[in-house]
Amino acid sequence: MSESLASAVLDQIAAQVGTPCFVYSSASILANYRAYAEAFGESPHTVCYAVKANSNLGVLRLLADAGSGFDIVSGGELFRVLKAGGSASKTVFSGVGKSAAEIEYALDNGIFGFNSESEAELVLINELAGRKKVKPRVALRVNPDVDAVTHPYISTGLRQHKFGIDIHEAEDVYARAMKLPNLALESVSCHIGSQILDPGSIHEAIGKMLALVDRLRSRGLSISHLDLGGGLGVAYKPGDEAPSIREFIGRMRTQTAGHGLHLMIEPGRSIVAEAGTLLTRVMARKRNGDKEFVIVDAAMNDLIRPALYQAYHEIERVDRTADRPNIVADIVGPVCETGDFLARDREIPDVKAGELVAVRNVGAYGFAMSSNYNSRPRAAEVLVNEDGATFRIVRRREQYDDLILGE
Ligand code: LLP
Repeated sequence: MSESLASAVLDQIAAQVGTPCFVYSSASILANYRAYAEAFGESPHTVCYAVKANSNLGVLRLLADAGSGFDIVSGGELFRVLKAGGSASKTVFSGVGKSAAEIEYALDNGIFGFNSESEAELVLINELAGRKKVKPRVALRVNPDVDAVTHPYISTGLRQHKFGIDIHEAEDVYARAMKLPNLALESVSCHIGSQILDPGSIHEAIGKMLALVDRLRSRGLSISHLDLGGGLGVAYKPGDEAPSIREFIGRMRTQTAGHGLHLMIEPGRSIVAEAGTLLTRVMARKRNGDKEFVIVDAAMNDLIRPALYQAYHEIERVDRTADRPNIVADIVGPVCETGDFLARDREIPDVKAGELVAVRNVGAYGFAMSSNYNSRPRAAEVLVNEDGATFRIVRRREQYDDLILGE
């Protein structure tokens, strides 16, 4: 889908907005969201876009207008959803630890419900809800003990991970939670990891979750909702094959048919990753011994995925009119760390200083994980409209004054 951001519009954006700059395609984001929503068809469902993947207000507004719900993990994310016109009643609050202030903020705004990961938190939500005389929906996030086969830092569904409540203990925890009068225990949730290219593991988790729903119902709980988390992967590397959203949801519908459940999902990456390009300009070329370096004006503070997860992002020369021989080089930023690279030993066209380079598939966990490390102002963000030609700045480039705000 990132092809939809043509060189012409990228050139124009670089000229008007400067580099580094994150550019998102509205058409791609909406196509992925609609693939989920349409695949559910008439089945009762809520697609709760995982805000953590890309929390820009422009992106959230686009999804809110298309009818999306939201999955949040902090009070700050709820603040963003509300600012973007998102609906609190379609928002679920996930995450391994929520503060009293965050829970109160969510209760005051009437979110759909909480996905809770500890008994201590159930007790806290119950107490705060009691004071406010409300009875929020609460699901336990269950850890189904399934191996998601992904990078170890983003796999979450095994027993040794900090996430969720062990599926073998979940029934007992629900039984104790039934004694907490201010919780509506109508839902169960799980999320086994991210960047999952073989959805077989998610289907395995669904099987275990359905069996759990049956057991909880036989104990007298009226479970009406099942939240299956996010996790569907995208194709980053040549040869990667991304699962089809439509097929994945189709199989999920078949698997859960007859259980009378409203399904919820929390996709992040599979909605926004392919929609994003990091536009950066070559500052200089340099050679150390046998090694070629392409120094660009984007760095690990803008895109930390290569340094943190050894992530692969496709890198292209924006102007592809003149043929260039390929070189093998490290594409690095100006930050003072050996770990500051966007790619290592990568075969790319022989780019010259001053030329534009596009780092692909950075719409998810790109800007959202960026920082001011080395006192680098954060990049601008641009949203290309559905026509693929016009665009608007959805976050201005930070200025030096922004760096010292609050100091
Ligand atoms: N729901 C929950 C409870 C989650 O923890 C996550 C992601 C999602 C939904 C969305 O998952 P997705 O559909 O995006 O895979 N920073 C890492 C990814 C961390 C994912 C954390 N949880 C990266 O850059 O690869």
